[in-house]
Parts: sequence; C-alpha cells; structure tokens
Amino acid sequence: MNITVTHKLAGRLIEAKGTAVSGQQLADEFGISRTAVWKHIKELEEQGYEIASVKKKGYSLVSQPDTLEPAGLQPLLKTRMIGRTMVYQQSCASTQIIAHQLAQEGTPAGTVALAEEQTAGRGRMARVWDSAYGKGIWMSIVLRPDVVPQKAPQFTLVAAVAMVRAIEEVTGVKPEIKWPNDILIRGKKCTGILTELQSDADGIQALIIGIGLNVNQELSDFDVQVQPIATSLKMESGKHVSRQEMVRAILFYLEQYTDLYIEEGFGILKVLWESYSSTIGSKVRARLPKETLEGIAEGITEDGVLQLRTADGKLHSIYSADIEM
Ligand code: BTN
Repeated sequence: MNITVTHKLAGRLIEAKGTAVSGQQLADEFGISRTAVWKHIKELEEQGYEIASVKKKGYSLVSQPDTLEPAGLQPLLKTRMIGRTMVYQQSCASTQIIAHQLAQEGTPAGTVALAEEQTAGRGRMARVWDSAYGKGIWMSIVLRPDVVPQKAPQFTLVAAVAMVRAIEEVTGVKPEIKWPNDILIRGKKCTGILTELQSDADGIQALIIGIGLNVNQELSDFDVQVQPIATSLKMESGKHVSRQEMVRAILFYLEQYTDLYIEEGFGILKVLWESYSSTIGSKVRARLPKETLEGIAEGITEDGVLQLRTADGKLHSIYSADIEM
C-alpha cells in the first residue's frame, strides 16, 4: 500500500470538513481504482480515523485520532518548509537528541522530531522536563539560518512570539512571555522553549528549537512540586484542545516569523515580543549563579539580553537567569 496516498487521502477528507466525497472522485483525483480507495480508507480506519461511508454519496470524515503521527499532521500543515520532513516516535528519551542526530546527518531545514512521550525530556539549566504520554506536544525543530551564532538567542524569542500567536489562535486564551522564553497563562507556565546550537568555524550548522507545550493535562497530572507553577491549555481554556491543531498553528507561525526575521531583521519581532511580555516594565528578581538582583526590567537588547535597572540606578545586562516577579 502506498502510504503517501493514504496520507493525501486523509488530507483530502480533512479539507472536505465532514462533507462526503465520492469514491469515484477520490479514485479520479488520485489516479487509482475505487477498490484501492476503499483499501486506503480501511487503512485510515485502522489508524483510528472514523470515516462514514454513505451509499451514493461517498466517504466523509467523522473524527481523526489526535496523535502526533505525521500521517495525521502533515495534511493539515500550511507551511512551505517547516514540517515537510517529520520524524515521529511514540516514546523517546528526548526529541532534542533525535533532532541533533538528524541535523548532524544533514536533514533538511524545517525537519521536525515529535514524540508522544519523552523519558528524559530536558529543560533549560539542565532541568528535567516532564513529558507525559499523549498529554502535550514534545517536539524539536531543525532550522539552518544563515546568521552568525551570536544571533541564535533571537530565535528563541521569535519562537516565543510564534507560540503566543498559535495558542491565542487555537484556544482564545491570551498568554504572556516571561523572559527569556517561558509562556505563561495567568502567571503559570504552559510552555518551555530550549534552543540549542550546532556550529563550527563556518557559522551555524543547525539550530534546534525544542518546544514543550502542556496541552491536555489536569492539575493532578503534574508533579506535586510543579503543580503551583504549571498549567495546561485545557486547564486554562476549560476544554480539550486538539494537539494536531496546535502543532499546525505553531509550525505555521514559526515559519511566518522566521521568514519575517530573515527578511526584515529582529526589530519588528522585538517589538512583538515586548508587546507580549509580562516581564518588561515590571519589578523582577533575577537569580544569577552568584547574586540576586532586584529591579525594573526595562527592555531587551537587539540580542535578547534583559536590561534590569536596580534601585541604585545601575543598568544590568542579564544574559541568563531565573526570573521571579
Ligand atoms: C524550559 O526549561 O523551559 C525548556 C523546556 C523545553 C522542553 C522541550 S520538550 C521537546 C524538547 N525535547 C526536550 O528534551 N526538551 C525540549
């Protein structure tokens, strides 16, 4: 069985939004027999798609499984480059490891590694990232931007803006960004972004953007220690959220904003980032390895460095810290 045709057929039924498409029409469109169409439909049903077959009318999609499998995701994508190559595993240690490996092997820019579960999900500052099976989106995206390595942190901020736009569009809730890259809803974290770099004397070989998004967890799904600070889209919107819809929106906005960055530079994205930021203009405490600074976060520099003014009037550049507000 030609799996690509199965994927495309799934995409055709998804686009028909529940309207029946006749077997003959599908056969003509895909250049296959009606029996072959029927076999592809059976294959989709085995994958968890619910398809109604109505005499004289044809096939219509009733529901599709909300897995992160490329077969269900790729037909939904509205991107040119990001997500055209996808690598999926039900369970892995970390999608960052997979993406790094693929990047070293020369995978094209835009490759996405996804998993239903990570057994060793990693966060910033060598922390563990809780990645329960089927509850969230755990994915790593390989980009190959033609910029100097010093500009890499800007991509984390670009990704944060893309995340906010995607969450707003799909759920209607309004998240905020806490510097540098936490996405919060009503003060609790729903998304973490981890950007890692492969570079050499010639510059950036690959930029790996790891995104962890809590989608359908209940409070009790989180570890007791993180319960006071973590949230999910379901907890905030009050309804189950389609992970497939979320991935589609995230990849769409990530491509839009990385294109904008390449065409226009960081300036416009900096303005967008600041407009979504809960940090800028607020009194914050920055926990650095050797000291803790308290002051007003005045803004970020072109390189994404936080500018913190302490009570003595001094302006501090914060490159990496835990921020409390
Ligand atoms: C943070 O500490 O806020 C960043 C968390 C990033 C988690 C994501 S989940 C997908 C990818 N794989 C990982 O192991 N980490 C990132």
